[in-house]
Amino acid sequence: MARILITSALPYINGIKHLGNLVGSQLPADLYARYMRQRGHEVMFICATDEHGTPAELAAAKTGEGVAEYCARMHDVQADLANGFRLSFDHYGRSSSARNHAITQHLAEKLAENGLIHEVSEKQVYSNADGRFLPDRYIEGTCPNCGYDRARGDQCENCTKQLDPTDLIDPRSAISGSTDLEVRETKHLYLRQSVLKDKIDAWIDSQDGWPVLTTSIAKKWLHDGDGLQDRGITRDLNWGIPVTKGGATWPGMEGKVFYVWFDAPIEYIAATAEWADAHGKSDADWERWWRTDKGADDVRYVQFMGKDNVPFHTLSFPATLMGSGEPWKLVDYIKSFNYLNYDGGQFSTSQGRGVFMDQALEILPADYWRWWLLSHAPENSDSEFTWENFQASVNKDLADVLGNFVSRVTKFCRSKFGEAVPEGGENGPQETALIDELSTRIRAYEGHMEAMEVRKAASELRAIWVAGNEYLQSAAPWSTFKEDPDRAAAQVRLALNLIRIYAVLSRPFIPDAADTLMAAMQTGDDSWPDDVATALTALPAGHAFTVPDVTFRKIADEEREAWEAQFAGTRS
Ligand code: 2FM
Ligand code: ZN
Repeated sequence: MARILITSALPYINGIKHLGNLVGSQLPADLYARYMRQRGHEVMFICATDEHGTPAELAAAKTGEGVAEYCARMHDVQADLANGFRLSFDHYGRSSSARNHAITQHLAEKLAENGLIHEVSEKQVYSNADGRFLPDRYIEGTCPNCGYDRARGDQCENCTKQLDPTDLIDPRSAISGSTDLEVRETKHLYLRQSVLKDKIDAWIDSQDGWPVLTTSIAKKWLHDGDGLQDRGITRDLNWGIPVTKGGATWPGMEGKVFYVWFDAPIEYIAATAEWADAHGKSDADWERWWRTDKGADDVRYVQFMGKDNVPFHTLSFPATLMGSGEPWKLVDYIKSFNYLNYDGGQFSTSQGRGVFMDQALEILPADYWRWWLLSHAPENSDSEFTWENFQASVNKDLADVLGNFVSRVTKFCRSKFGEAVPEGGENGPQETALIDELSTRIRAYEGHMEAMEVRKAASELRAIWVAGNEYLQSAAPWSTFKEDPDRAAAQVRLALNLIRIYAVLSRPFIPDAADTLMAAMQTGDDSWPDDVATALTALPAGHAFTVPDVTFRKIADEEREAWEAQFAGTRS
C-alpha cells in the first residue's frame, strides 16, 4: 500500500467554473484519487478555493459585497457544486485561511533568511482616474508576445506567457477602462528565482516520465531569453496575506500583501493542515504528508492542472519550497491538460461563454458529464465540446452499451428465473473466451489508470462494457433458454456477476451509477476483479437482486437542439 498525495489546481473564487476548468484539473484528479483509494492505497486528495488577488477584488466590487463576505459565500457555492459533481476531496480548503496566512508568512521569512528575497524599487502602473496602482488583472492590453488584445497584466490567456503590467501594449484600466495611466515608483519583494535556476533545472531533469506538455513549458521558461527571471511576490492590494517579518509588518511593506500566485500553491499544504484541524487531528497528521523529515519521504505527490498553471508549479512553487531550506515534499508527477473548447470557440468565464458547473447539473446528473468530459479529456491536444458529440457519447456508451446490458440481463433473469442469481451449468468456451478478453482488458485499464492516461482508460472501460454486450448478444440466453435452460441460467449468472464487476471498475468515472448497480445487485462486495474467473462467482446462485431503474437515459434530438440554443449566447 502506497501513500498518495493528490492536489488539483485551486479554482479561483471569482464565479462558478465552466466545464473546461473542471476537466482541466479537479475532475481527472478525482478520477485518480478514487481509483487509488479503490486499489487500497492511502490517499490525501486536496483542493481549495483560490481567494486572493485581483480577480476576487474585481468580482466582489461587481456584486457590491465586501471581498471577505463575497469569498465566504462563493466558497460555499463552489463546495456545493464540487459535491454535486462527486469530487471526493478529503478537504476543500480556502487560501484565505489562518493556516495559509501562517505558512505563507513563515516561508517568506525562511526565503529571506536564505538571501532569496530582495526588495526592488519598481515602476508600477498607476491609474489617475481610479486613484490607485493597477496590479495584475486590474490592467488589460495587448500581449507583447502574441498580439492577443485582451491580455491581462499577470499573464496572457492566449499564449500562457507570464507578464508584468508594464509589458502590455496599449494598456487600460480593468476597473474604469481609463487609459490615463502613469508609471510610478513603488517598493516590492522579489523572489530570486534566478539564483535557483540550476537547481530547479536539475530537479526537472531528474524526474521520470513527466508529460511532454509539462516539461516543455518548464524548459521554455528556464531557458528562453534571459532564462528564469526573479518574480515580484507582493502587490499593492488590501485583500490578501499581509507581508510580515517576526510577527510585525515587514518594514516598507505597509499596505501590501503577498501576490496571489505566491500564496495559492502554499494552500495545498495549508489545506492539509485545515483538514487536520477539521478532523481533530494533530500537526503530525498533516506533516506526514508534507515534511520529508516527518514521514513524507514515502509519499508520492501528484498534481493536476491546466497548461497555463504549469510555470507556477514547475518553477515558482518549487523555488519557494527548495529555497526555504526546509524539508518540504516536492511534487513527483505533474499531470497537465490542454484546453477544452466550446462549440467552435473558447469557454470563457469573463465572457460567460459555454456551460458552467451549476447549469450542467441542472440539465443532467453528474455521471453524464463526468463520462463525456473524462472520455474526451484534452490530454494530447485541445479538445472540443459539441452538443452533438455529447449526445452521441451518452446515448451510445452509457445508454446503449452499459445501461442496456444491465437492463437486459436483469429483466430477462426476472422473467425466466426470478429475482435471484440462478443455479446453472458450467462455463463453456464462449465464457472462457470472454474471461480471457476481460482479463487482458482489465490489466490494460489498470495500466492506463496508474499512468493517468485518462482517455485511454475511458476507452478501455468502454471496451470492457462492449465485451459484455457482445457476449450477451452471441450467447443469447433468450434463445438458449428454449432448448437448454441450464445453459441459459449459467449465462445469466455470469452476466449478473458482470454487473457487479462493471460497478467496481466504473466507479472512478461514474460513481453514482456504480452505487445504483451495487444496490440493485444487493451487494457491498466492492472487491477489485484481480482474477476475473473468481470475480464472476462473487454473487452465488440464490443471491437476490432487483432490476434497477433506467441507469442512463438517452438524450433526444429535440432536447439537444434546445440546449444548443439555450447555451448559444453568453451568460451575465
Ligand atoms: O488558474 C487558476 O485557476 C488558479 N486559481 C490556479 C491556482 S493553482 C495553485 F497553485 F493554487
Ligand atoms: Zn500572448
